[in-house]
Amino acid sequence: MKKLIYIFILILSIGTVAYSHVDNNLLTEGCGSCHVGHGMDSEPMLEKSEEEFCYQCHGSGDKRSEMVSKGKLTSSVNLTNIEAEFDKLYRHPVKEGFGYSPTEKLPSFSGAPSTHAECVDCHNPHQRINKSGKKIYEVSGYSLSGQYLEKSVYEYEICFKCHIDILNISNDSKNSFKEFSLSTVSQHPVTRPSIKSGKIVSLNKSLGASNTMKCSDCHRSGNQNGPKGPHGSNYRFLLSGNYEIGPFTDESPMAYEFCYSCHDRSSILANQSFPYHRQHIIGNMLNNVRGTSCYTCHASHSSQRNDHLIDFNKEAVTIEKKTRKLMYIKTGIGNGECYLSCHGHEHSPAKY
Ligand code: HEC
Ligand code: HEC
Ligand code: HEC
Ligand code: HEC
Ligand code: HEC
Ligand code: HEC
Ligand code: HEC
Repeated sequence: MKKLIYIFILILSIGTVAYSHVDNNLLTEGCGSCHVGHGMDSEPMLEKSEEEFCYQCHGSGDKRSEMVSKGKLTSSVNLTNIEAEFDKLYRHPVKEGFGYSPTEKLPSFSGAPSTHAECVDCHNPHQRINKSGKKIYEVSGYSLSGQYLEKSVYEYEICFKCHIDILNISNDSKNSFKEFSLSTVSQHPVTRPSIKSGKIVSLNKSLGASNTMKCSDCHRSGNQNGPKGPHGSNYRFLLSGNYEIGPFTDESPMAYEFCYSCHDRSSILANQSFPYHRQHIIGNMLNNVRGTSCYTCHASHSSQRNDHLIDFNKEAVTIEKKTRKLMYIKTGIGNGECYLSCHGHEHSPAKY
């Protein structure tokens, strides 16, 4: 039976696509670089299980050299150390838990909360690449409409496999599925193309093809030259850079390093979009008013109600006393009103 499956997969591979993992110039023994005659129990002829298997080639230089000396990997290929990413402070829990099954349907059908993630939850070891070079994600996921997919088309569908329901990941995690639903008024354009006409003034990076961005543009190694992907980072929330979210934060390039990597700091602080950016972000030393984080006014993923990702941090602001309101109203292009109370500063409303 197993032989038949092998032959079937081999026939598939001769068609229109090339297996990235089965490039004999790189993996010198082809399928045999990974599959051995006698593998571990309960593994399809693999010498190691789970991430340890992948680390043979995607781990430390020493492990790679061993594979090269066994003749399973060419010495000319330059692979990054993914194992080191998973040693970082904030990371996907691949070490925790065991027992991925290819038929596992996360999260709702497995019955158990998904407290771990495996390499093969996000990567198909037999993943193919189109002739055009376009990647196809051959792992399961959930579509925007909550439909279980055998094969994901977009990266975010893979993420939704687990980040679809707050019950399935620990309580302090966000329900990213809901946050990126199509009903949002504004969002970082992950699940739909940008609807902004013209470029956002502070933006110093252009959007990717199809006018969208990926989850992994923000959630990725904190090391500029590190491998792509949301494996691990030393920055909180598994972000590519530091992001302070406290109601009282002293501004510096480091405090909002993450946002400033795409939104030019000098544009933001020169009030090129919002005339009171500088005053809020830096504060006013003379009046003893401290600066506040972007997070006080902006949500990171989306806003269900407001344009410009405006969604106030309820730990920083409260209901305005006279009007009993806590809201943002857009009144025109470059104009708006805020009703709120911010540590004794009543906005009833404040207009710009
Ligand atoms: C980069 C390493 C790697 C290479 C190269 C590779 N495989 Fe696999 N293969 C795996 C892993 C890992 C699994 C277990 C998958 C899982 O747990 O989901 C697997 C599983 C399988 C299975 C069991 C059924 C399944 O898909 O889960 C078959 C059959 C198989 N491989 C055939 C092949 C053939 C044929 C080739 C060459 C064309 C090949 N593999 C190349 C890593 C590899
Ligand atoms: C025998 C060595 C070997 C093993 C084992 C191995 N890989 Fe790879 N992997 C490679 C090589 C070689 C490449 C191609 C790198 C390149 O093209 O520069 C690669 C590329 C990749 C890529 C990038 C593919 C792309 O299209 O961008 C991913 C993702 C990946 N491997 C994941 C895994 C996972 C997950 C496992 C374990 C299930 C694994 N690999 C096991 C050798 C290996
Ligand atoms: C197989 C399940 C699974 C998949 C698929 C998955 N995640 Fe996760 N993710 C988890 C679990 C489990 C945690 C840890 C939750 C916790 O401890 O709060 C987590 C945590 C995170 C965190 C927070 C890390 C931190 O330290 O604060 C981010 C960000 C994240 N995932 C992003 C993504 C992105 C982006 C994708 C898609 C590319 C994705 N996840 C796909 C299971 C998954
Ligand atoms: C523009 C950058 C950006 C994009 C794109 C993005 N995120 Fe986030 N994400 C953040 C920031 C910043 C935080 C932390 C602050 C917060 O919770 O709002 C965060 C928080 C999270 C958390 C909660 C982490 C925790 O420990 O509380 C998860 C899970 C997550 N994101 C998953 C995703 C998924 C899945 C996608 C794609 C569908 C995605 N993110 C796209 C910036 C981004
Ligand atoms: C939560 C999902 C998730 C998990 C778990 C995960 N990866 Fe990834 N990985 C990604 C994404 C997303 C990318 C980026 C793909 C892209 O945009 O090119 C990526 C990229 C990679 C790359 C290519 C890096 C580069 O710079 O081109 C390798 C190699 C890789 N992963 C290996 C692994 C291995 C090995 C494991 C397990 C130890 C693992 N991944 C676990 C989501 C994941
Ligand atoms: C006091 C609330 C507040 C704070 C704090 C704040 N913003 Fe804003 N921001 C706004 C408002 C309101 C707008 C919308 C202006 C308009 O009507 O076009 C805006 C617009 C933006 C825009 C879109 C236009 C542009 O400049 O490209 C970006 C990006 C932005 N802010 C980033 C940031 C960053 C980064 C921080 C933290 C360093 C931050 N904001 C802090 C209120 C705030
Ligand atoms: C990886 C790049 C990247 C990072 C990091 C990033 N952004 Fe953005 N941001 C974008 C892009 C691209 C757009 C343009 C969206 C569009 O055209 O719809 C945008 C748009 C915005 C807008 C304007 C939305 C509107 O509708 O006017 C705000 C506000 C914003 N970002 C705030 C932030 C804040 C706050 C941070 C840090 C927590 C941040 N961004 C981090 C890429 C990024």
